[in-house]
Amino acid sequence: MTIAYLNGTYMPIEQAKISPMDRGFLFGDGIYEVIPSYFGKLVGGQLHANRMNRGLQEIGIEIDPQSANWTEIASALIERNQSKIDGDSIGVYVHVSRGEDSRRFHAYPEGVTPTVFAFAFKIPNSVEANKSKAAGLQVNTQEDLRWKRCHIKSTSLLGNVMHFQQSQSDGVNETVLYNSQKEITEASVSNVFLVKDGVIYTPPLDNQLLPGITRHILIESIRKDGKYSLEERSIQLEELFVADEVWLTSSSKEVAPVTKVDGIPVGSGEVGGVWEDAMNSYHSHKFNF
Ligand code: PDD
Repeated sequence: MTIAYLNGTYMPIEQAKISPMDRGFLFGDGIYEVIPSYFGKLVGGQLHANRMNRGLQEIGIEIDPQSANWTEIASALIERNQSKIDGDSIGVYVHVSRGEDSRRFHAYPEGVTPTVFAFAFKIPNSVEANKSKAAGLQVNTQEDLRWKRCHIKSTSLLGNVMHFQQSQSDGVNETVLYNSQKEITEASVSNVFLVKDGVIYTPPLDNQLLPGITRHILIESIRKDGKYSLEERSIQLEELFVADEVWLTSSSKEVAPVTKVDGIPVGSGEVGGVWEDAMNSYHSHKFNF
């Protein structure tokens, strides 16, 4: 039984209960984060906290600053769950909804207290992650049919859930999304990078994609090490099929190579050498953010 956090109290997760009138339940009206940790150390803790606060501000959820110690809650959950979760790689999910209302009415209510919920879970350790990375991921592609505020890490994830479900039904690991101009936006639960002729590319940040923390740490790490040039620019879907390498990034995957897109091998069909360098850069800098 793991320990969760609900509205200021740590408790066995089975005891954490919220009202069905909570707007998180009724409307998906909330913001969330997933913060990874290895050996008790958070990766990008402050960056995740900042993104959480930006999201809350954007949707008008005001939270008293004392309840908003996201990195403190994450670290406390890691400590309390270390003996309960097998392995030293732990992710923390932190969720803030607008809170419980007395009626179901779409507009933001006045005077409700946000609900804060967090729990810890196992993420792949480096041995497991390396094994799956050596094989490479397979993805399909789909037109991005989500909303136009994908930069907000909203708990309303049905669009992402439906895209990801399609990837699972198609027997692949993830789905890469493209907009009506056939530009890559991101994937259903991760950001996308590609390599062509030794240059690394990723779509620029705008309302069509989440500003991924792993994406940010990877970009900065690659730039620090200076071995490759990296451009944030729009990427056409067709570029994916002639890329030398394709990677996905997220807090639970870190930097994962893709070896097949829509059944077509990427580059040589093997995990690429630029990925290996980039992943090493990521690992050598990831605790410094
Ligand atoms: N997903 N894009 C989308 C749509 C995502 O859901 C995620 C992460 C990312 C990568 O962001 P980051 O590097 O900050 O984890 C990009 C999380 C892990 C999830 O929903 O479980």
